[in-house]
Amino acid sequence: MNQAIIGGTGVYKLFDDKESVTLKTKYGPAEVDLVTIDGFRFAFLPRHGRGHSVPPHRINYRANIRALRDLGIEFILATAAVGSCSERFVPGDVVVLRDFLDFTKNRPSTFFEDGSEVAHVPMGEPYCPRLTDAFLETARDNRLWVKGSAVYVCTEGPRFETAAEIRMFARMGGEVVGMTSVPEVVLAKEAGICYASVGIVTNLCTGMSEEEATLRQVQEVMAENRAAILRCCVDTFKRPMSKTGRDEPADPRG
Ligand code: HPA
Repeated sequence: MNQAIIGGTGVYKLFDDKESVTLKTKYGPAEVDLVTIDGFRFAFLPRHGRGHSVPPHRINYRANIRALRDLGIEFILATAAVGSCSERFVPGDVVVLRDFLDFTKNRPSTFFEDGSEVAHVPMGEPYCPRLTDAFLETARDNRLWVKGSAVYVCTEGPRFETAAEIRMFARMGGEVVGMTSVPEVVLAKEAGICYASVGIVTNLCTGMSEEEATLRQVQEVMAENRAAILRCCVDTFKRPMSKTGRDEPADPRG
C-alpha cells in the first residue's frame, strides 16, 4: 500500500472495511484509517480528525504527512472545500489545484526547522503534474466533470475572508480560496511524496454574491460531491503510475 487520500470525514460509509490506527510521530500523533473499497486497499487520513473537530489552523500537518511517509506512502490525493473568487468557477464545480498563494500566518510549515540543514524545496510545480493528469484522465473515464485547474489561496482561518481580501486575492491571480492546502502540499514535497489536490467549489467568496457563505453551505456541497470524487480518487490509484519522475525525497530527518 503506497497511496493515500486526505479528505473529510463524510466518506466513512463508502468504505467496505476500515482499520483505524493512531500513528506516533516526533511531531505528535496522527489518525489514519487503513481502508478497503471493492478489494482495493489504501490509507485514508481524515484531515480534521475522525470527529471532524480540528479546525484548519490547528491541524497537525507535520504529524499527518510524517505518519503517511512512515507508512510508505508515495502518492497522496487530497480533497478540499474551496470558495471561488473567480468568474470561472461556481458552486458545485470540481477543480484541480495547480499552484498556490500562501496567506497562512501561524503554522509550522517545514520539516527543516532546526537549521542544522538548509533545505529549499522547489515550488515550480507544488502539485504533482503526473498524479493530477492521472486524476483528470480518470475523471474523463468516470464522467466526472472537472472545470479546470486553479490557483489556490490559503488563508489562516478559521474565519472567512473580508470582501477587500477577496478582491486583493483575485487581483493577485488567486482563483479559489481555502484554509488547508498549505502547508500540507509543501510538507508532502519535502517528504518526497507525489501530492495532488482536488478542490470542490462550495461557495462564492465573500463579496462575490449577495449571500454570505456559511459552513452549512460548504458542508452541503461537499456532501453532494464526495462519493463521486472519492470513487475517482480510488480509480486514479488503480491506474498504472510509473514511479520515475517522482519527486526525490528530501529526507525529512527523524
Ligand atoms: N474561504 C475559505 N475557505 C473556504 C471557503 C471560503 O470561501 N469555502 C470553503 N472553504
